[in-house]
Amino acid sequence: MTDQTTTAPTQSEERDYDEYRVIEDLGGWKRTHTCNELTAADLGREVTLMGWVQFRRDHGGLIFIDLRDREGLTQTVFSPEGDADAKQAHERAHAIRIEYVVALRGIVSRRPEGMSNPGMLTGEIEVVVQQWKLLNTSDTPPFPIEDRVDAAEMLRLKYRYLDLRRPRLARNLILRNKAAQSVRRYLDSLGFLEIETPVLTKSTPEGARDFLVPSRMTQGAFYALPQSPQIFKQLLMVAGLDRYFQIVKCFRDEDLRADRQPEFTQIDIEMSFPDEEQVMAMAEGLVRTLFSETIGAELPASFPRMSFQQAMDEYGVDKPDVRFGLKLADVKDIFAGGGFKVFAAAPCLKAMRVPGGLELSRKEIDDYTEFVKIYGAQGLAWIKIKEDGEWQSPIVKFFSEDEKARLAECLGMAPGDIVFFQAASADVANASLGNLRLKLGERFGLIDEGAFAPLWVTDFPLLEYDPEDKRWVAKHHPFTSPQPGQMDTIATDPGGALARAYDLVLNGSEIGGGSIRIHTPAAQKAMFQALGISDGEAEEKFGFLIEALKFGAPPHGGIAFGLDRIIMILTGAKSIRDVIAFPKTQKATCLMTDAPNVVAKKQLRELGIQVREKAAANQTEDKQAEA
Ligand code: AMO
Ligand code: AMP
Repeated sequence: MTDQTTTAPTQSEERDYDEYRVIEDLGGWKRTHTCNELTAADLGREVTLMGWVQFRRDHGGLIFIDLRDREGLTQTVFSPEGDADAKQAHERAHAIRIEYVVALRGIVSRRPEGMSNPGMLTGEIEVVVQQWKLLNTSDTPPFPIEDRVDAAEMLRLKYRYLDLRRPRLARNLILRNKAAQSVRRYLDSLGFLEIETPVLTKSTPEGARDFLVPSRMTQGAFYALPQSPQIFKQLLMVAGLDRYFQIVKCFRDEDLRADRQPEFTQIDIEMSFPDEEQVMAMAEGLVRTLFSETIGAELPASFPRMSFQQAMDEYGVDKPDVRFGLKLADVKDIFAGGGFKVFAAAPCLKAMRVPGGLELSRKEIDDYTEFVKIYGAQGLAWIKIKEDGEWQSPIVKFFSEDEKARLAECLGMAPGDIVFFQAASADVANASLGNLRLKLGERFGLIDEGAFAPLWVTDFPLLEYDPEDKRWVAKHHPFTSPQPGQMDTIATDPGGALARAYDLVLNGSEIGGGSIRIHTPAAQKAMFQALGISDGEAEEKFGFLIEALKFGAPPHGGIAFGLDRIIMILTGAKSIRDVIAFPKTQKATCLMTDAPNVVAKKQLRELGIQVREKAAANQTEDKQAEA
C-alpha cells in the first residue's frame, strides 16, 4: 500500500511542493487525543492529533492520511472543498510524505457508507482536517514501517528507532512496561524493598564469562559487570533489610541463542527466614498476577512440580515443555547383551515413540539425523510401524524376536508410529532426543500455542562434573545450600548431593531459578572446598561474603526471573531481540551505535592498556565481515 505514495505519484504530484515543506513550531497547539482513541462517540468533536504519516492516498480530489502514534492509527482526510483554511490545508497536503511528523486539527466525522474498518478501534470515524502544521520532514525510510516487514534484521537493527515504530515492537515494549509495573506493585504489597546494587563490581560466579571494565585509578585492575546481583542481595539480608527486589540488568559474556542476550534483565528477589515453600508461593503469586494483569491469562492456582531426575528421564532436558507428551523411555535393559552392537554397547539407550510418525519422509528423517548431531549424536535409529503392523527399519534385522516383543510392549508401539532411538552417553542421548522431541511436537502440531504450562523443577544436583576442567562445579552457583543432612555428602559423594534449588519453567523456557542459600561461614567454606577452591582463592574472591556470614547472617533464599523471557512468552515473540528496545546481535554487537568499537590510543594509555596488534586487526576484520 505504501508503494502508492512513494513510487506512483499522481499527476498533481509531479510538482514537488517544496514551498510547503516549511517546518513549523507547535505554536501553542496541544494534542487532544492519541491516534487510537476516537470513536463514533466523538462525532462532531474538534480534535488535535499529532503523529507520523503512515500512509497517504491522493485521489486527485480527496487526500487521505493515516496518522500513526505508538497507540495506533487514525484516518484523516483533506478536502478541496470547505472554508479557506480547509482549502489551504488541502493544497499544502500535497507536500506530505510518509513518516513526516504532523499536527492536524479537524472534526471527527463518520466514514462514508461501506468505508468503515471494523478491525480498527478508530475504524468508524475519520478526522476531516481544517488546519495542519508540518512539525518535521523525513527521508524515505530504508524499509516500510509495517508489521509485515521483510527487510533484513541487520538493516532493521541499524535503524532500530524506525523498527520500533512498527506497531508490533511498540506493543511489546508497552506490555513490558505494564509487566514491570505489575511486578513492582505485587512485590511492594508484600513488603519487598526495591534497592539498587552496583554495576561496577567484582566477579559473581553464575557460570558465564565476565564483562570487564578497566580501572583508570587502579591501573591493571578491573571491575566486572555483575552476572547477577547474587552476592549483594545476600548481603542485604545480612544487613537486616529482610525483603529485597530489583529489576536489574545482568551481564554475561556467553554464546548467544534465540533466548539469550549478553545484557538482559532479571527480576531479582531475596527474602529472610523463608523455606522453599515460601519462596515458591511468593514466586507463583508473582507470575500469576503478572499474567493476569498484562494479558488476562489465568495460570493454575498451584504450579506442578517435577524432580530434575524425572525431567531428564522423561523429557531429556531440565526444562521440559509439558504442553505435550512424547516422553522418552529407557530401553537399555531390553538390548543389553543383544546382537545389535550399537545398542548393546552404549552406556545409555533411550527411545521416543511418535504416534503418526509413519508419515515422516526419508528427507525429514535425514534432517532430524543431522539435527541431533548438534547434540553429539552419532546417528538416529528409527522403526516405522506400517498400517499392516510390519516394522520398517534399517536395524530390526539385528533384533531378536524376544527383543522386539519386549520393545513393543515397553513402548506400546502401534501401527502409524515411528520410534526414534539414541544410543550414547546419557548426556548425549537425553539432549538429542529431548530436543528432537520439541521439533516433533511442532511438526505434529502437538503444542497448544494458547496454553501456559508452568512447572517447578526441583531436587537438582548441587554439583556437576566439568569434564573439561576436570573438577566439580556448582550446578547453580556456589551459594546454594545442600538439602538437609547432605552437607557431608558434598565431600564423600559430590555427584550425589541434592540442592535446595528450584527452577521455574514455562512452556519449555527456563523463566526463573533460585535457592535457599548457605548462611554459615563453615558451610560456605566446605562448599568452596568441594569445588576445589583453595582457602586463599576463596578469601581473595569471596572473603567479604564469608566475613559477612560471621556477623549473624539470617537464613535466607530467593529467586531471579528472566524478565525478557517472560515478555517473550507474554507477547509470543520468537526472538528475545523483539522484546528489548536496543538489543545486541548474535555477535554481541550493536549495529546502531557500532558498539563495541575501537577507542583512542590516549584513552587506552590513561588506562594503562595496550591492545595487541593482532587483536586490533581481528576486530577490524570482524567488523567488515559483519557489515
Ligand atoms: P540464573 O543464572 O538461573 O540465576 O538466572 C535467572 C534467570 O535469568 C534468565 N537468564 C537470561 N535471560 C536472558 N539472557 C541470558 N543470557 C540469561 N541468563 C539467564 C533466565 C534465568 O532463569 N542469581 C541467580 C538467581 C538466584 O539464585 O536467586 C541467577 O542469576 O530466565
Ligand atoms: P549403522 O549400523 O552405523 O549403519 O547404523 C544403523 C542405523 O543406526 C542408522 O539409522 C544410524 O543412523 C543409527 N545409529 C548409528 N549410531 C547410532 C547411535 N549411537 N544411536 C542411535 N542410532 C544410531
